[in-house]
Amino acid sequence: MQVAPVLLVLALALATPSSSAERKCVLTGSWINDLGSNMTISIMNGRGEFSGSYHTAVTATNNQIKISPLQGSQHRNNQSKQPTFGFTVNWSFSESTTVFTGQCFVDKDGKEILKTMWLLREKVSSLHDDWKATRVGVNVFTRRRRE
Ligand SMILES: *[C@@H]1O[C@H](CO)[C@@H](O)[C@H](O)[C@H]1NC(C)=O
Ligand SMILES: *[C@@H]1O[C@H](CO)[C@@H](O)[C@H](O)[C@H]1NC(C)=O
Ligand SMILES: *[C@@H]1O[C@H](CO)[C@@H](O)[C@H](O)[C@H]1NC(C)=O
Repeated sequence: MQVAPVLLVLALALATPSSSAERKCVLTGSWINDLGSNMTISIMNGRGEFSGSYHTAVTATNNQIKISPLQGSQHRNNQSKQPTFGFTVNWSFSESTTVFTGQCFVDKDGKEILKTMWLLREKVSSLHDDWKATRVGVNVFTRRRRE
């Protein structure tokens, strides 16, 4: 007598897309953030160390923006589906350095998203100016394409 509702529940369960928690968030590939900056993580070795490039859409300097190299590492390579990571950008058009730290998440629609915070260290001319040398911010990246 209760067969039909049971079948309906079963059919709904089968039709539901696999839970986002089952998908793995992979850092390699091309990403774009909320400012329109592009980042490509090209190489990831077996120890979770990676390198890539960063093309920023914004700069605190008056210099012409150039694509800059980045190097970082992700935690617990291959074991975590939503790994934490960090990387350093060596700006090639100014004597500044930025470090990012973040986590790679898979959202409820199965889309990967990188939630990050950064510190930008600008070079200042003397110890006296040290107090104003660091900026902090937040960036959210989504995938452009898998490489
Ligand atoms: C990032 O990529 C998008 C899409 O390819 C492009 O429109 C945009 O100009 C790029 N941004 C920078 C800073 O290169
Ligand atoms: C980690 O994953 C990569 C690609 O997903 C694979 O090539 C590699 O063999 C894996 N390493 C380990 C230790 O499982
Ligand atoms: C950092 O940037 C400078 C200036 O572009 C370059 O000479 C240097 O090789 C870079 N270092 C790394 C590790 O990418």
